[in-house]
Amino acid sequence: MHQVLEKPKRQVPVCAPVLDGREREYLLDAFDSGWISSGGPYVDRFEQAWAAHCGVEHGVACCNGTAAIHLALKALNIGPGDEVLIPAFSLIVSASMVHLAGARPVLVDVRPDTWCIDPRRIREKITSRTRAILAVHMYGHPCDMTPIQTMARKHGLSVIEDAAEAHGARYQGKPVGSFSDAACFSFYGNKIITCGEGGMVVTDRADVAERLRLLRNQAFGSVRFVHEEVGFNYRLTNLQAAIGLAQVELIEQKTERKRRIAARYDELLKDVEGVRRPVETPGCRNVYWMYGIVLEDAFGRTKEEVMAALAERGVETRSFFIPMNQQPVFDGRDPHRLDLRGRYPVSEELGARGLYLPSGEGLTAEKQAYVVEQIKGLSV
Ligand SMILES: Cc1ncc(COP(=O)(O)O)c(C=O)c1O
Repeated sequence: MHQVLEKPKRQVPVCAPVLDGREREYLLDAFDSGWISSGGPYVDRFEQAWAAHCGVEHGVACCNGTAAIHLALKALNIGPGDEVLIPAFSLIVSASMVHLAGARPVLVDVRPDTWCIDPRRIREKITSRTRAILAVHMYGHPCDMTPIQTMARKHGLSVIEDAAEAHGARYQGKPVGSFSDAACFSFYGNKIITCGEGGMVVTDRADVAERLRLLRNQAFGSVRFVHEEVGFNYRLTNLQAAIGLAQVELIEQKTERKRRIAARYDELLKDVEGVRRPVETPGCRNVYWMYGIVLEDAFGRTKEEVMAALAERGVETRSFFIPMNQQPVFDGRDPHRLDLRGRYPVSEELGARGLYLPSGEGLTAEKQAYVVEQIKGLSV
């Protein structure tokens, strides 16, 4: 006989979308208009609204954040023979999109405090083949953009931002997305602004915007069905853009909610030994997309133990990313596989010890208190 496990009384999801603006109204408007595919006014309005929010000239919407990175690389003509510096600690797409573009990802370790690419480690990785730096704003905290831009200028490199996790974050008063040749966003369901699935590249460069639009749409040229290069179908639909636009209208409210959740966790966790909390470095606005913690030895339990115990108590968590140098797909086992092995101590420590807690915009103070109570109960 199977034992029926009792479900915990409370369920605290790691994240859930909040659609409390004009999403439904805009979506139905798009639906009723018949513009349900990738043409239609909401795509333009969404692009314009998000570019304006980022303080840049152009927005080119696409089907997801992964496609946005691929498009940005291609629009900047990065390809075979080129190297792109990426953080060792990131989602797999940082490496896989560089690889898909035909270039070689080169890993750089991250900062122990912000978990973003460490500018002090960039110089040693630059070679005559380096073409770009991919700066990933990790879990809502902006990268240290001034030294990255300085280094890029000095060595003639492009800068690409991956701001998938940092909508509304600011560095020295300016929004992320405004520090690069092309900045990529994801609007997946767990992102601060969401379309369900969606993405965008924003840029101040008219030449890059033009190429992004071309490549997004199969590289259809001026003569129909005559193609001068390989493009993609990375289009976003008017329906998705309608939801996205309604969300953009609430960006300040959404990021303030995230910051309030983080402040509450900070307060509740401040005396728990062995729990390292996220930071906000001077001059930065962290939007705490997800509230990550790093468990030190003093806590007395491993990440895996804590995640399993919290799951039993109805609290959903996620592990931090596993660094690129530890990904089986990049173990160089045969000539077709990239070899990204090497030592990246900070990234490895984060991957081994880091997890993030429920961080959805709709998380109540009462549920947060419950989450922290459970964590405190596990400390030995
Ligand atoms: C840092 C980062 N880059 C890129 C992506 C890819 O975005 P998408 O899932 O929309 O393809 C994500 C998230 O999902 C992400 O967290």
